Amino acid sequence: MGKRDKKQRHPQRNSHRAAFHYTEEGEEGVSYESHAASKYSLSEGEEEVGKKDEEEEEEDEEEEVEIEGNEETDEYPSKDMPSKFLLYQQSVQSPKGDISYLQKFFLMYVGGRQPLHLQEDFCGTALLSAEWLRTDSRRTAIGLDLDLEALDWCMENNINKIGADGYSRISLFHGNVLQPLEAKLIKFEPQELLRNISLTENKVVTESGGLESVLEGGSSSSSHNEIYMRNHPLPARDIVCAFNYSCCCLHRRADLVLYFKHVLDVLSKKGGIFVMDLYGGTSSECKLRLQRKFANFTYFWEQAEFDIIERKTRISLHFHLQKQQKKLRHAFSYSWRLWSLPEIKDCLEEAGFQSVHFWLREMQDTREIRKTEGFGVGRDIKYEEVKKFQQQDAWNAYVVAVA
Ligand SMILES: C[S@@+](CC[C@H](N)C(=O)[O-])C[C@H]1O[C@@H](n2cnc3c(N)ncnc32)[C@H](O)[C@@H]1O
Repeated sequence: MGKRDKKQRHPQRNSHRAAFHYTEEGEEGVSYESHAASKYSLSEGEEEVGKKDEEEEEEDEEEEVEIEGNEETDEYPSKDMPSKFLLYQQSVQSPKGDISYLQKFFLMYVGGRQPLHLQEDFCGTALLSAEWLRTDSRRTAIGLDLDLEALDWCMENNINKIGADGYSRISLFHGNVLQPLEAKLIKFEPQELLRNISLTENKVVTESGGLESVLEGGSSSSSHNEIYMRNHPLPARDIVCAFNYSCCCLHRRADLVLYFKHVLDVLSKKGGIFVMDLYGGTSSECKLRLQRKFANFTYFWEQAEFDIIERKTRISLHFHLQKQQKKLRHAFSYSWRLWSLPEIKDCLEEAGFQSVHFWLREMQDTREIRKTEGFGVGRDIKYEEVKKFQQQDAWNAYVVAVA
């Protein structure tokens, strides 16, 4: 989520091997745990990108909509097209599965109480936080991200579904995980409140007679009276998480250690954990492209060449909307440094964490995916705590650090 690339009309596409992450809300018969376990694999009925896809792309007359970094985006978002954030949530995220593992890790490594206070760093649209709040009314959540558009979208589309008290139990901050105390609180007027407000020029008059400046840029709040994380009372966190490989957004080792120190600072003195995920395997260090078909759209994961000097690659997510006959190319694009597990462990220990645990699962072999046209072998494989793990074509890991 977040960063946007320059327009790139003809990405190279000569690789059909793929590491791929996805999960789908509402899939039938998939338990919470296996839901999370499905990251970076394909399931029955899904198709890999192969020859067919290339041919389709060559011949396709459908309109392409670039939605990053250029001005030719009038058509997006449009009334008949779903938001890119919605498409992302449906194709990439698996909050129930992640929460199931978060609870399990907390009880294993801390125990003695229920974890109630979550901080989701690199939260994007904070879908995980929303699910966290929705499933237990005692819970609170804090989200932090650089992408204001994603945070605003979260407030309007995810938090409103939690129930009346949702807004009071979440604090979303716009800022950098490397300077969390400088992050600004997103203030939000729930729809119900907005309905009772009348607009007069640049002022908002509430029914109670209160007067506030109209917010620049929509729903999130004013530039004066900013509230920062540093001066906003927040509960000590039981769990901090950073999912969908977000720590790969940090490229410098010093930044990674600094970030982990910030995490440690906010974890409860009674005990807490930090959980992040990471992917790897031989297929993660080469150019890849894969697709997954959903009912109304197809999701494409594209991994650019892998630079072994800096261990960096660029990941682009595209969506192809069949009904609207539109392609949202580069809906999301990330520059990632693919950290290794021992590098992450070293940095966590340097930051002061007491212990670090690796939970891994092998993902579907991308060569196998090609042979079986995406048949979902190994879909229900659970993550297991490991001390050793032989290299595979594709694996996924939760890294759990205990404060
Ligand atoms: C891969 S997305 C992950 C979003 C979400 N956590 C998920 O599970 O799908 C990475 C997110 O990190 C955010 N991000 C990148 N660098 C950041 C930084 N230094 N501080 C805060 N957020 C950052 C981006 O805006 C983007 O929303």
